[in-house]
Amino acid sequence: MDLRLMDAIPTQEEREALDLFLGAPQSGWEGGLRDERDAYTAGGGHEARARRHLLLPALQAIQSRIGWISEGALNYVCERLTIPPADAYGVATFYALLSTVPRPRRVLHVCDDIACRCKGAAELCEQLERTVGPAYHHGPDGDHVVFAENDAVWLRSPCLGLCDQAPAALVTVADAKPIERLFGHADLAGLQRLLAGELAASLEPRGRLPQAGDPFLRLLRRVDVIDPTSLDEYRAHGGYEALRTALKRGPEAVIREVTDAKLMGRGGAAFPTGRKWDAVARQPVRPHFLICNADESEPGTFKDRVIMEGDPFSLVEAMTIAAYATGCEQGFIYIRGEYPLATERLQHAIDTARARGLLGDDVMGSGFRFDLEIRRGGGAYICGEETAVFNSIEGLRGEPRNKPPFPVQVGVFGKPTLINNVETLVNVLEILRIGGPAYAAIGTPGSTGPRLFCLCGNVTRPGVYEVPFGTTLRQMLNMAGGVADGRPLQAVLLGGAAGIFVRPDELDMPLTFEGTRAAQATLGSGVIMAFDDRIDLVPILLRIAAFFRDESCGQCVPCRVGTVRQEEALHRIHSRRTRGDTTGELALLDEIGLAMKDASICGLGQTAYSAVESAIKRLQLFDGSAR
Ligand SMILES: Cc1cc2nc3c(=O)[nH]c(=O)nc-3n(C[C@H](O)[C@H](O)[C@H](O)COP(=O)(O)O)c2cc1C
Ligand code: SF4
Repeated sequence: MDLRLMDAIPTQEEREALDLFLGAPQSGWEGGLRDERDAYTAGGGHEARARRHLLLPALQAIQSRIGWISEGALNYVCERLTIPPADAYGVATFYALLSTVPRPRRVLHVCDDIACRCKGAAELCEQLERTVGPAYHHGPDGDHVVFAENDAVWLRSPCLGLCDQAPAALVTVADAKPIERLFGHADLAGLQRLLAGELAASLEPRGRLPQAGDPFLRLLRRVDVIDPTSLDEYRAHGGYEALRTALKRGPEAVIREVTDAKLMGRGGAAFPTGRKWDAVARQPVRPHFLICNADESEPGTFKDRVIMEGDPFSLVEAMTIAAYATGCEQGFIYIRGEYPLATERLQHAIDTARARGLLGDDVMGSGFRFDLEIRRGGGAYICGEETAVFNSIEGLRGEPRNKPPFPVQVGVFGKPTLINNVETLVNVLEILRIGGPAYAAIGTPGSTGPRLFCLCGNVTRPGVYEVPFGTTLRQMLNMAGGVADGRPLQAVLLGGAAGIFVRPDELDMPLTFEGTRAAQATLGSGVIMAFDDRIDLVPILLRIAAFFRDESCGQCVPCRVGTVRQEEALHRIHSRRTRGDTTGELALLDEIGLAMKDASICGLGQTAYSAVESAIKRLQLFDGSAR
């Protein structure tokens, strides 16, 4: 695609798609007809440029209506938002769910990531290749393929966050009324039906929470118990009592409770939440922003989806409390683009809460003002990194920023920003219900409260499980019914693709921050992925390496080059075409891993070797083998 301002003009449908989202252009400054006023009025350009943060949603509006973003459409977006085309092109090509080359309206994304591989996803993709044809691979840029109205293609996808119902797939149909559906337990016949255009409702995900209705649940107590679209049912089950308590007690008291609770972030980095809230509340610069990180793209993670689909009002209430405590008037939920049902439920919860005075200018009649907006990701794992979230919301490429400055000082739009994970926020409701000290008595002194774990892979009853911190890995596996089909356990991947493999003799490890740290492991985002003796772990490592290579934003050299070299070395070992011997390749992998850990800007590069390293050193995967 040419990077100069192009002559390409949008089709009527593309123009309509964008105008529906942005409203009709008001002046020549934003792509409307130039009239006399434009000759001497310069203010319009500034106004249009101030809407840069609408770039990603604008591109998404075109993608979901047309199925791809043509040069003409991109040009029109640039005119409307006064963005240089090269800049907008850089953003459009950053996100896997957006396409700047022709694609048909109907696209099937089939997960071939590690949890789905335990349930036959690799074989399923091979069957699709044999029966339907290879996964869609576009031609060179500028290759103007014309698709018929009913054409469909399939693509391989990284983890879709439906690991409890593996294998998973996502179907998207671009239209004036676009369709997006995530569904599990995929088989060849079902995928073929979807490609043929039969979008049967029976393919909706319908997995039930394994612990549904258990009286000991705190975070998940309403999931699969109440109607997630009913505010009245939410309130009848204790909803909005925590906000009432917060408004009565005041911001400082809320922060004190969260601090006393010793709540630690559940997004992976385990930062003390009370300290973060206090730091934002103290910032003199205004306004403050609140962001809920609902990007959840770590392979094997689906706990936040379960909350958002099953109890969306809880997140809206928890965010309102967080905003009240830290002085934020505007909040964003940054949700991954592959979660259509969760997005729909949250939007409904936000609209309902606003209509009932629980969001808006006068929350619960207290005079406190707070409102919420959803921003959808575009299929980029790196956008879960907190500063990448800021860039993505601002309409830039989702690349992490250097820290410091830290988000509490300089976050989204350059303002103090509180960013927390979905599960972290929902814990606050429980803290206000029972009080910080009582909450701190749950779990262990170093890891307080309940914790959600995502059990997947070869377990009998995959799903999200809530337990107090300190439960052992063995107990967790037993809760999920143990290894499926009574097979022996080969290994567990703890913490996701950025996590660590542990051996079957390490199952008595307590699942706490301190317990896993002592065992040189990590809880990460709460993934417990079991592999039975039938799984060949080398292709699993190759998939993990491909994931990091693909998801690296490419901004820093150790990560951009290291993830490629790591994958290459693993392929050489796997295909027995080593340069020298396997020992030499393993030493090279170790050096690459060290460089990535030491010199990468963000957690992606720093953890890209973790799982591979643990497979080599902990599982001794390549020891004594002829590989
Ligand atoms: C590559 C990468 C991806 C991440 N993805 C997520 C994510 O999807 N959700 C999340 O809450 N945190 C994610 N994080 C962690 C965030 O940077 C941040 O620590 C977190 O949102 C803070 O919230 P918490 O304190 O409530 O845990 C990611 C970090 C990295 C390095
Ligand atoms: S470590 Fe990787 S993902 Fe993170 S900023 Fe650097 S290149 Fe991007």
